[in-house]
Amino acid sequence: MTGPMQMARAFDELADGYDDDHHDEIARSLVALAGAPGEAAKIADVACGCGAVALAIAQARSRRVTPILAVDLSARMVAAGKLRAERLGCDDAIDWRVGTAVPLPAADAALDLILCASSLHFLGTRALLDWRRALRPGGRVGFTLPIASQFRPSGLFADLVATDVPLPETAEDARTIATAVGFIDADARILTVGSRSVVLTVATNPAAPGHL
Ligand SMILES: C[S@@+](CC[C@H](N)C(=O)[O-])C[C@H]1O[C@@H](n2cnc3c(N)ncnc32)[C@H](O)[C@@H]1O
Repeated sequence: MTGPMQMARAFDELADGYDDDHHDEIARSLVALAGAPGEAAKIADVACGCGAVALAIAQARSRRVTPILAVDLSARMVAAGKLRAERLGCDDAIDWRVGTAVPLPAADAALDLILCASSLHFLGTRALLDWRRALRPGGRVGFTLPIASQFRPSGLFADLVATDVPLPETAEDARTIATAVGFIDADARILTVGSRSVVLTVATNPAAPGHL
């Protein structure tokens, strides 16, 4: 039986040895593909782990008017992220939360940008649907997924992977994951980091209600 407690425990145990360099590179590429958010943009880093996405944005922001919402189940991953932010002098730019990211602790249509690096395959389709809810019309979403043929999770992590998000083999497959839940203008590309590749995808929440 797997659930939020098993997920939190698995990543708590990983926190000290987490591969920040690898994940930071993926997160920076996702942020770049999503485009520069405005200084006051309301942003969420979903399943933020050690804050790869939130840190990439926080460091680039000149004014820190709206803290980035950074949510993760693992208290130790969040603690590691907070420490990194303190060392970089940008902790006040991030609103760290320990808890489930699905649903996001955000009101309907409250967010301008939702980013999720290296985590959607743990969250499942319900996260994609929740992002439609939490984004304002015209808001942007970005996520990364591992390439299906390269993904070899070890025993425990294999049990934690959601079964309802089909991992993409191509950029077109990834665009389809976004458009299948009603996002529009999807763009995707493959990024290779070291020996592994991931697909980065960005898309827009449609302006018309009920587009799904
Ligand atoms: C591979 S890590 C990626 C972390 C970070 N986004 C990054 O790019 O390094 C996956 C993260 O998803 C988190 N996670 C999985 N399911 C979650 C859920 N339902 N709510 C919040 N966090 C979750 C785990 O705790 C873990 O930190």
